[in-house]
Amino acid sequence: MKFEKIKDVIKKEEGQKAKIRGWIYRKRSSGKIIFIVIRDSTGIIQTIVEKEKISNEEFKKAEKALIESSVEIEGTVHEDKRAPGGKEIHVTKFNVVGFAQDFPITEYQSVEFLLDNRHLWIRSRKLTEVMKLKAKMLRIIRRWFDENDFYEVTPSVITTNAAEGGATVFSFDYFGQEAFLSQTAQMYLEALIFSLENVWCLTPSFRAEKSRTRRHLTEYWHLEAEEAWLNNEENMKLQEELISYVCQSIAKECKDELEFLGRDPKDLKIVEPPFKRIKYKDAIKMLNEKGFDIKWGDDFGAPHEKALVEGEEKPIFVTHFPVESKAFYMKISPDGKTVECADMLAPEGYGEIIGGSEREENIDSMIERLKKDGANIKNYEWYFDLRRYGSVPHSGFGLGIERLLCWIAKLEHIRDATPFPRLVRRAYP
Ligand code: 4AD
Ligand code: MG
Repeated sequence: MKFEKIKDVIKKEEGQKAKIRGWIYRKRSSGKIIFIVIRDSTGIIQTIVEKEKISNEEFKKAEKALIESSVEIEGTVHEDKRAPGGKEIHVTKFNVVGFAQDFPITEYQSVEFLLDNRHLWIRSRKLTEVMKLKAKMLRIIRRWFDENDFYEVTPSVITTNAAEGGATVFSFDYFGQEAFLSQTAQMYLEALIFSLENVWCLTPSFRAEKSRTRRHLTEYWHLEAEEAWLNNEENMKLQEELISYVCQSIAKECKDELEFLGRDPKDLKIVEPPFKRIKYKDAIKMLNEKGFDIKWGDDFGAPHEKALVEGEEKPIFVTHFPVESKAFYMKISPDGKTVECADMLAPEGYGEIIGGSEREENIDSMIERLKKDGANIKNYEWYFDLRRYGSVPHSGFGLGIERLLCWIAKLEHIRDATPFPRLVRRAYP
């Protein structure tokens, strides 16, 4: 008999044989009977080990095996309404593959303790469901790009360009030359549209941001897309289609994960194009009316973003930010004061999930803005070449995978959207 997954064993009928392997999730004993809940990647099931039904040696092993021991079990399936999933296994064979020592994680532990023991804590059911949802979400995103004829490309993560500003870049010595961990693949994607036209990629991005908030990681998974011949409005259409597709698909395909995490699929089903668009200047007005002390040129913080989506059920776009507040590569609007950009804000106060823009084609304008940021212009020569050799209007965007997951999975903190979070004070384990 082959090993089966718990999700399949749960579907078996009364009296059928079952053979599973996994880890001890919970255990309690009353002398001659031991109740052991086993988990595998697909779920949990209760097993019952009775002294009379197995060999003495096996029963002793079952008594000795602590939580998180890995085990192999054979037995028969029985209905039991009280058991998780409504079924249990009456054990006929019990084998321990690896005895666990006293598991350090018990019920009430501090956040710091759990982060120190992250390599063990990722076995918890919540993080397991989050990671499953993330895997499915990435699969869905990839499907969307495939169906929409985008090429997936593989840009470099070692770079000499700090496209999102020198203040938040991790630098290191690259054989005697200063190099950075990439903040964005955008500039490389821009180079690739001249042959492939529509491209996308998924890479780690790095931000040396000192901000210790619920939304900042220093390393995150960055999904970026770039398309030739596209303007800012068309770029927003692309984004709202992608996000709607992801929400619709997750609502249909990830019911179990959503239920466990407390997200109603209905919240996701209502996410359909078009999303509301408001200009930065109107957003400032709106915030002032709501009592915020904020003026033209200021950046939005979490409370502002939360106020802007109050009463919204779908994400919204805030467009046309002041030139000074955004990166050098964003195209300056005809008014000369704003840029052709859009930030997508998730509902419920989850904040910015996408930043996108049409790209500047005027080299002098970019140099002027780069100089203000104290950048080394020489490192951008290759990028200016893209404007020199057959430039075309083009746009693109970047989406923080963990930010999107936070909203969809209703997570309180972005650290739980990734197995080994990198935070200002944490790079271990
Ligand atoms: O808005 P950002 O900085 O835009 C760019 O990097 C563009 N070059 C992207 C492009 O046009 N190709 O970052 C894009 C997104 C944000 O909207 C946010 O979702 C996420 O990346 N992000 C972070 N996620 C987690 N932790 C951080 N510290 C993040 N910083 C940005
Ligand atoms: Mg941004």
